[in-house]
Amino acid sequence: MTYCRASRCGELFGVESRLVRRCWRKWSSPVTLRNTTETYGPVSKLTHWRIALRIIGLIWLGWYMVDLTYYHEWQKFSLMAHRALGMVVLLLAALKIAWVIGSKLPDFVGSQKPWERAAASATHHLLYLVMLLVPLTGYIISTSNGDPIPFFGWFDIPALFTAGTQVRDIAIDVHYYLAYAVAVIVLMHAAGALKHQFIVKDGTLGRIV
Ligand code: HEM
Ligand code: HEM
Repeated sequence: MTYCRASRCGELFGVESRLVRRCWRKWSSPVTLRNTTETYGPVSKLTHWRIALRIIGLIWLGWYMVDLTYYHEWQKFSLMAHRALGMVVLLLAALKIAWVIGSKLPDFVGSQKPWERAAASATHHLLYLVMLLVPLTGYIISTSNGDPIPFFGWFDIPALFTAGTQVRDIAIDVHYYLAYAVAVIVLMHAAGALKHQFIVKDGTLGRIV
């Protein structure tokens, strides 16, 4: 006897095969953009990886560019690219958070202990917060004297206000500490995900890929 492996389904079906692991009822259910109780939907998956890859790239780019001298051939381009791609993260993060507020998150996987659930949930909330705060402080640094942010020469993102040098200096410190804090949080987050995927083997990574 074989039962459907999709959690909360449990339908009984006859064919035992490496490929047939879910019953027809699950396969034939309508495609949805939203999260289900078992897994993240296409919108969550797409925004997760679009934001994650950009943030990882921006941490590297930020770390690389601050050591370049004014006359280095990459200095101007790397700063412009860092600012422009950072503003894309701000936009994607705002859209993602709006999507998260308007949709339900999947249930936790059954094998997660209560402290693991609390830690995962706290980490996700922290990541939502920093994916807004890091680009926002970057925006304050870069527009503090009223200059717009060029987007690869295609158009300019205007300065909405001018902050004084005091606010700019605070923004530089916050941007610096939060950016490297994100690197640590992401390492812990990824380590937890990989542990669940490859040691506990509960398919955690598959829910977001
Ligand atoms: C800057 C990098 C990253 C950020 C900001 C980030 C953020 C998040 C957030 C906010 C969630 C909650 C679901 C959502 O709204 O998307 C999540 C879920 C998840 N992330 Fe990441 N993530 C990052 C990198 C990674 C990496 C590198 C991995 C894997 C190696 C990973 C694996 C996962 C998994 C498996 C889940 C689903 C957890 C569950 O089933 O509850 N993430 N991530
Ligand atoms: C999630 C998005 C972002 C991440 C992860 C990030 C990360 C970083 C990192 C790691 C540094 C180097 C800090 C140091 O070692 O001194 C940096 C510097 C910088 N970032 Fe970002 N950044 C992001 C978004 C932005 C945005 C949107 C802007 C502007 C529109 C921006 C403007 C800057 C500037 C001007 C610096 C140099 C600050 C200084 O003078 O020390 N960043 N960023």
